Amino acid sequence: LNRQPSSYLCLLKQLRDTPPNQKISPKISVVGAGQVGISICAFLIQRNLARHLVIHDIRYDWAKAEALDLLHASCWLKNPHIEACGDGSHTKDSDIVIVTAGARPVGKDRSRLLVMKKTVEILKLAMPKLIELSPKAVFVIVSNPADVMTYAIQRICKLEKHRCFTTGCSLDSARFRFLIAQRLKVPTTEVEGYVIGEHGNSAVPVWSSVTVGGVPLVKVVRDLGTSMDTENWNNLFKDVTQAGASVGNIKGYTNWAIALSAVNVVEAMLENSGRILCLGTDMQGMNSIGQQVVLSLPCKVTSTGISHVLQLPLTALEQEKLHKSAEVLMKAQCSLEL
Ligand code: LAC
Repeated sequence: LNRQPSSYLCLLKQLRDTPPNQKISPKISVVGAGQVGISICAFLIQRNLARHLVIHDIRYDWAKAEALDLLHASCWLKNPHIEACGDGSHTKDSDIVIVTAGARPVGKDRSRLLVMKKTVEILKLAMPKLIELSPKAVFVIVSNPADVMTYAIQRICKLEKHRCFTTGCSLDSARFRFLIAQRLKVPTTEVEGYVIGEHGNSAVPVWSSVTVGGVPLVKVVRDLGTSMDTENWNNLFKDVTQAGASVGNIKGYTNWAIALSAVNVVEAMLENSGRILCLGTDMQGMNSIGQQVVLSLPCKVTSTGISHVLQLPLTALEQEKLHKSAEVLMKAQCSLEL
């Protein structure tokens, strides 16, 4: 290397004038820079999942400040490319778009269905442009009520159900596994099991799917999950459905677990190994669901979104509860003015 000062200048000039790479992949856009959106951004960057991240919020200055705050840590990250955007334009050609924009649940029970009308109006305005700009992207919907919002977007924007879905009950399933693990004093990773249906009050615990260290819990607990269960495991499930409210009533929102559930979906897509996650999309035809209704069931995830939905072997009670949950969601879907 020629150490003459003029050569350094020459080298710097060369670096500056080198045209940027055509496209940095994967390009991931996060829509809505509230607590959930920004937590998703932080995890995506920290885990090096998004080489190109766009933070989109109609409050452009806010998005810019969040982007800058993350960029200031560039030397501890892997030199991510992070952009802020206020009108959606920078989201062009995203591979994955994660939608978190919407109204925040309020009130004591923090019902997700109560904020439905406000959020649907926000998404009706925002989504068509985002889809037009990224016609091949997979859209992961996090905005609450997540099932109904996914239905609305699938309907309004005519998006295929395999590439427009919600994180849905993947969070409820994670909380279910955590609370079972706490009760049995085992690590959460040793507990498997699903919650299906609505990401909300009518969610269904699939007790027949729960295994601990490979042992089905139904083999150990008599009448598990039924009204005859003397150990009252159903009380634990009440804590699962109330989990969002019990955190939200103190903090005003939940962000960490929901953000990680979305990031886990992204990781599964990028890994493309066919991981099974409990996600929500139009499940007509699955588990005897007759109507077009968005709810969660275990899904195989690949780089293009959901490739298969698993037909869960449910007990008669679980099946009945799933149909009740579908009815609750159908009613909410029908009340939308699309
Ligand atoms: C929760 C919100 C994201 O359950 O619905 O934490």
